[in-house]
Amino acid sequence: MCGIIGYVGERAVIPVLLEGLRRLEYRGYDSAGVAFFDEGKISVIRALGKLFNLQELLAGYGKNPRGIGLGHTRWATHGEPAEHNAHPHGDCRQELVVVHNGIIENYHTLRGMLEQKGHKFRSQTDTEVIPHLIEEELEAGFDLPEAVRRALSKVEGAYAIGVFWAKAPHMLIAARYQSPLVLGIGEGENFMASDIPAILPWTKNVIFLDDGEMAILTKDSCQILSLRDGRKIAKEISRIHWDAAMAEKAGFKHFMLKEIYEQPQAILNTFRGRLDPETGEVNIPEICLSPEEVLSLKKICILACGTSYHAGLVGKYLFERWVRLPVEVELGSEFRYRDLLIDKNTLVIPISQSGETADTLASLRRAREVGAKAVAICNVLGSTITRESDGTIYTHAGPEIGVASTKAFTSQLTALLLLVLYFGQMRKSLSEQERRRIARSLLRVPYQVEKLIEKVHPEIKDLAYDYQRKEHFLYLGRNILFPIALEGALKLKEISYIHAEGYAAGEMKHGPIALIDENMPVMALAPANHHVYEKMISNIEEVRSRRGEILALGTEGDETLARVATRTVSLPECEWEVSPILYTIPLQLLAYEVAVVRGCDVDQPRNLAKSVTVE
Ligand code: M6R
Repeated sequence: MCGIIGYVGERAVIPVLLEGLRRLEYRGYDSAGVAFFDEGKISVIRALGKLFNLQELLAGYGKNPRGIGLGHTRWATHGEPAEHNAHPHGDCRQELVVVHNGIIENYHTLRGMLEQKGHKFRSQTDTEVIPHLIEEELEAGFDLPEAVRRALSKVEGAYAIGVFWAKAPHMLIAARYQSPLVLGIGEGENFMASDIPAILPWTKNVIFLDDGEMAILTKDSCQILSLRDGRKIAKEISRIHWDAAMAEKAGFKHFMLKEIYEQPQAILNTFRGRLDPETGEVNIPEICLSPEEVLSLKKICILACGTSYHAGLVGKYLFERWVRLPVEVELGSEFRYRDLLIDKNTLVIPISQSGETADTLASLRRAREVGAKAVAICNVLGSTITRESDGTIYTHAGPEIGVASTKAFTSQLTALLLLVLYFGQMRKSLSEQERRRIARSLLRVPYQVEKLIEKVHPEIKDLAYDYQRKEHFLYLGRNILFPIALEGALKLKEISYIHAEGYAAGEMKHGPIALIDENMPVMALAPANHHVYEKMISNIEEVRSRRGEILALGTEGDETLARVATRTVSLPECEWEVSPILYTIPLQLLAYEVAVVRGCDVDQPRNLAKSVTVE
């Protein structure tokens, strides 16, 4: 969940590290720090709080060192957010520095062992055992790469690390096990980072390190070795097609708002080239399943966390209706510790924006152990989940920086719909006529979303003032919009800190209705053409008759809804299959605008991090 960046080359190193950290700050922002080699020794500068504090400190540094450096932005796991717990961490003599993303599970044992040998620790972090372990190996006479390799063989847990040593200041070591790490290959310079956007200003050529691999980077070379036995490994260089500007705010006040507005393009990018506009046929060979394998499927199991889990819940409704296969949607954090009832005829679909979420990844690994096939839905090229699946539908939404997931979600819904159409056409569970109808409605979505944002954003901005002081919010939906109620509630709570719950509207009478009074705002999702519309109207009446305040999203011109709800926001008529995409948009905007008027930090909400790579 932390972000790490490393550089070796001839540039002034502080601006590179700060720019890289700025692009990684979404991963954690409790503290930040850098280390670089200057005038024959290592300097470490760290600051509590956001990156801005570190920038201020570095502005007063007064020198412009070149060559080698490491940077870190932290999401605390072991040890409170404090300057002394911020990375980089060093050995006893501060001749060696390490940045780390992950968790060292056996650090208590290692620390005890090292303290007995006389090592002095300065922090409460798990990370600090790593430089001390390396120091031991250096003292035993090993060179830096071998010392790092041997030290890591003693470590249990997850790590992506960067290391450099004052006695070999031309060499940067990177290593990974179960935490993401990408190498950037430049000309006369090389980089390492937790995520691609951090290195995009300087290079688009990357190597994705796999678990159990380490790299020795100098300014002119990059050598990959196995952590197990030190053997050399040949790796391909991949070219990234994102450009650096895509990870900028482009005039928007927040990344979240920019990403909401990017949704028409993100959705289009997800289906473009895959959906034939004439026939509605879908072509996604990248899922790497043969027709026989698709026909032999007995069950689908979707694995995901957070917002991606909500996309999975929508997928359940779609698959069950049009593919006629039973679907289970599982939270990664639960599935990984459950008794599994899946086998080789089960298709697992891990859904993840980042492709690095630890719980989703662990669940995927368990499913693979029992022989299940896996097709990932993911946004980040080369991420671990994609590499451990048989095939991947990339969403092509572009980098998502805001911690609150927006365009990743609606493009996941699009990818799921493509998969449903594809399986439906192959398994003949979907008629050609239905396929054409669904395809036509999906093709209209980018335009509808664009117009919808234009229309509802000003309306929602006004509403946000009225709701800013509420302490609770209920979101109600039925059927395929029930997951969208969950997603709307998640968006509101994560960025505005208002307590919000999503409920299946029919469940209200089993308990939550007791919460309704004139202080409880209720968001109801009620499109007029859904088969549960009448039921939804009854549920709204039940809330109104208990003096609850209903804000309803419904179809343009629906007078019944306008009569029963306190306020309505209208959406264009759309087919059931694409309604989750459209009904998500006003909920994202509401969460955003409420958070803005409450003065919350929209892109970096408290206690959260974008990519959750720890359990
Ligand atoms: O990268 P992933 O899609 O696997 O991330 C899963 C969740 O951590 C993520 O969706 C989280 O819930 C977001 N903050 C929601 O906005």
